[in-house]
Amino acid sequence: MSQNFDVLVIGAGPAGYIASIRAAQLGFKVACVEKWRAPNGELSLGGTCLNVGCIPSKALLASSETFEEIQSHAGDHGITVKEAKIDIAKMMARKDSVVSKMTKGIEFLFRKNKITWLKGHARFVAAEDGAYRVEVLGEAGSELVEARHVIIATGSKARHLPGVEVDQVLISDNEGALQFDSVPQKLGVIGAGVIGLELGSVWRRLGSEVTILEGATSFLGACDESVSKEAFKLFGRQGLNFSMGVQIGEVKTVSKGRKTSVEVHYTDAQGAAQVLECDRLIVSVGRVPNTEGLGLEAVGLATDERGQIPVDQHCQTRLPGVYAIGDVVRGPMLAHKGEDEGVLVAERIAGQQPHIDYNCIPWVIYTSPEIAWVGQNEQQLKASAREYRSGQFPFMANGRALGMNSPDGFVKILADAKTDEILGVHIISAGASDLIAEAAVAMEFKASAEDIARICHPHPSLSEVMREAALATDKRALNM
Ligand code: FAD
Ligand code: NAI
Repeated sequence: MSQNFDVLVIGAGPAGYIASIRAAQLGFKVACVEKWRAPNGELSLGGTCLNVGCIPSKALLASSETFEEIQSHAGDHGITVKEAKIDIAKMMARKDSVVSKMTKGIEFLFRKNKITWLKGHARFVAAEDGAYRVEVLGEAGSELVEARHVIIATGSKARHLPGVEVDQVLISDNEGALQFDSVPQKLGVIGAGVIGLELGSVWRRLGSEVTILEGATSFLGACDESVSKEAFKLFGRQGLNFSMGVQIGEVKTVSKGRKTSVEVHYTDAQGAAQVLECDRLIVSVGRVPNTEGLGLEAVGLATDERGQIPVDQHCQTRLPGVYAIGDVVRGPMLAHKGEDEGVLVAERIAGQQPHIDYNCIPWVIYTSPEIAWVGQNEQQLKASAREYRSGQFPFMANGRALGMNSPDGFVKILADAKTDEILGVHIISAGASDLIAEAAVAMEFKASAEDIARICHPHPSLSEVMREAALATDKRALNM
């Protein structure tokens, strides 16, 4: 006899575990299938985000920022530090303990909400009665599970380059790059996207000479151009070396005596053949949805040309009662986007009518300074011939930013020329990941730039720059 649930969720990343919790809160009998194994061999909840994504990368970013602050900027405050040293094993142990606290926290939440964790790999199987079941292949064998509603939340994995073998030691994707046992003298990175910049920054701060090879000719194409230009200048000044518009050729490991290094052969933007020799290489060229072995074909579901499961605006697939959310479907591959979809689907199953405004989902890149945006950028507004006004204000004119030694960057607000509705907010600064929340709230409530300009912001705080940028859309910035 198969187990029976109201809601079965496949995958316990941020999309799946949140969907499970919300469905349980709404009174459903819920099971979640998850197979992730941590490096210590234990099964673990939390998916990419908690195990090898958002959480460990931000822990390492914080460690490397602390190291750089002490090593390079303590003197600015009149503080003398004899010699800053980094113990990589300890830094990694701290990161692992943050991950473990978070993943164990999800286990606690599953117990609290009476969610059954089915440990193993799930796949759809056609049943004789013309319906389907979900088979869970676990350590003790397989079992068939029935559910009225199935939510696919199987996430994504790193895209690899053809012919480039990722061994997670010399050549790594995000998983290996979060586990280095020493600071590589020379680090190569393929892909100047979010992971390349965040993890490239971690190892640069700790002492690596970092070279990033990027296929596109433009830098951070999804950002507002003013932000990407500023970022390119600042990251270059920090010591990240970029080679844009390259074409990657052969990538191989080469042993000389007792040392093995990596050679990346590539053609540069001018068409000249080049070789980058490095001690370690990170390949960060995007991610692909996880649908392998899921048995989609058994229930007549197919993926699209990008490998994603097609869904409507409510994350409903073609198959009644089957939904898909998170990285495995269209939209940005971001944890909070998946979480929102998890809540949406659980509430729709319960007969509620929630919706998601995808235009109000914020993006953050956790470099230093951080980059964050929500809504449309200036290139998109120009392309759609929308008339807009722009207001920009720099952090170097903000007392809190100067006190914090963080004068770089600006806030830029784009507002409709006639209605003054905020259409997009673009920030490059310290603390941009927190500042952007105000902009997301404003956009969800269809606020105008005048609304932000009229709202009292605390002094001294970085948030005053948001208000000044709003005033600047009407050429009324007060401190400029
Ligand atoms: P995942 O988190 O990938 O989880 C899917 C889960 O499904 C996995 O645990 C997998 O084991 C399980 N699964 C898959 N197939 C099956 C199956 N057949 N049976 C059982 N289980 C299965 N996003 C942000 O918003 N902010 C960040 O700061 C950020 N930093 C990142 C840093 C890195 C290095 C990386 C790689 C990603 C980062 N992301 C960040 C992206 C974020 O991690 C993803 O968008 C998010 O994890 C997607 O959530 P998900 O639940 O859709 O999928
Ligand atoms: P990405 O899409 O951000 O960047 C990949 C980069 O690699 C692009 O600039 C692309 O032009 C380049 N590229 C692709 N193929 C190439 C090739 N053959 N040669 C050279 N360059 C090539 O992908 P990334 O950095 O792997 O991150 C994956 C996703 O994970 C992100 O898009 C994001 O959704 C998520 N993420 C989010 C974070 C955050 O929210 N702070 C942090 C890290 C990841």
